[in-house]
Amino acid sequence: MLQEIAAIFLAEELDQVTLSATAKRYRELLFAWAEFDSKNEDFKTDIYIENGKAIGSYWAAACISDARRTRKLIKGVFEAIKYLKTKNEGPVHILYAGTGPFAALILPLLAVYTEEEVQVTLIEINENSCDFLKKIFSKLNFNGFVKALVQEDATAYKIKDGEQIDVLLSETMQHALREEPQVSIVTNLLKQMTNEVILIPARIILYLGFLNTEYPPGQVDDDLVFKKEGAVFELSKETIKDFKYISADNQGEIDFVPVTMVVKPASWKHYTHLAIFTEIQVFGTIWLRTYESGLTSPWIIAPLPTEETKEWSLTLRYQIAANPGLAYKLG
Ligand SMILES: C[S@@+](CC[C@H](N)C(=O)[O-])C[C@H]1O[C@@H](n2cnc3c(N)ncnc32)[C@H](O)[C@@H]1O
Repeated sequence: MLQEIAAIFLAEELDQVTLSATAKRYRELLFAWAEFDSKNEDFKTDIYIENGKAIGSYWAAACISDARRTRKLIKGVFEAIKYLKTKNEGPVHILYAGTGPFAALILPLLAVYTEEEVQVTLIEINENSCDFLKKIFSKLNFNGFVKALVQEDATAYKIKDGEQIDVLLSETMQHALREEPQVSIVTNLLKQMTNEVILIPARIILYLGFLNTEYPPGQVDDDLVFKKEGAVFELSKETIKDFKYISADNQGEIDFVPVTMVVKPASWKHYTHLAIFTEIQVFGTIWLRTYESGLTSPWIIAPLPTEETKEWSLTLRYQIAANPGLAYKLG
C-alpha cells in the first residue's frame, strides 16, 4: 500500500483530486498502523522551547493533509536520493529533524528503497511522537533503515564525530518562518556537516509585498491578488554561511542583518494589505510557490492606507526567540 502511495506521489503528472484523496488515504493508513487515537487531548499539546514551538503529535500528523506540501517534499527527497545514488557508493544517509509521529516525508520512500540504499537518523523532541515512530517502524518492519531514533532537541543536537550525512531534511516551519524553529534547527545541524550535504528544503525565501484580500487566490490572475516587492530573508546553505553570531565562538545567538525597504503608494494602489510571502525551493526544480501550501500562504502585516500617503519605510529583521519570525518597524 505504501508503494502504491509512493508511486502516486512520485508521478510526473497528478491531478488535484487524486492528490487530495491520496494524502487522505496516506494519513488514515498511518493513523491505523500507529493506532493513533486522534481524540486523545495529550497529543494536541505543543512544547515550547527557547527558540520556537514544537507542535503536538496530532498537529504534526495533520500536516500530511497539506497535500501539495507533502507530495513535493517526498518527491524532493526522492530526487535527492536518486541524484546521490549516481554519485556515491553505499547507502544515502538522511538526517530527518522534526519527524512528527510518522516520519511522513520519508516513509513511502522506504517502501521503494532497500536498507542497503537508504539509512535514516530520526530526531524528534516530542515523546509521544517518538513512541508512535517506534511503533510504526516496527509495524512496517522498517527498523533496518534506522541508524538512530532519538528524542532530542534538534536545535542543540550534536552529530557524532566523523558521521557522514548526505541529506538534511527538516520541515519545522509555518508560513513566513514564524513560531517554529526551522531556522535554529537547520543552522545548528548544517554547521556540523560538510558542504556536500543536500538541504531539503534547499531554500526558503521571504518577500515583502502587497496583497489584495478582495480577490480569491487561484481564481483570477496572480497579479491581481498579490505582488512581491523584494526578498527580506533567505534560509539556504549559501545564506547560512554568512550568518554572523553575536559570540565569537559561532555558537548561540545570531545577529541577523536588518533590511530596510521603501514602498511607494504608486506600487501598492491596487492592493489592500502589506504582507510577507514565502516561496520554498524543495530540491532542484521542485518549488512550493505562493498559495500552493499552508506554508506559502501570505502572512498579513498591516492594511495599506486608502487615502493619499507618502511612501512607507519598513525595517525588517529575522529574530530567533520563543516566538521566532520577522520583527518589523513601520516608519
Ligand atoms: C510541522 S511538524 C512536521 C512533521 C513531519 N516532518 C511532516 O512534515 O509531516 C514539525 C515536527 O518537528 C518537531 N520539532 C519541532 N521543534 C523541534 C526540535 N527543536 N527538535 C526536534 N523536533 C522538533 C515537532 O515536534 C513536530 O513533530
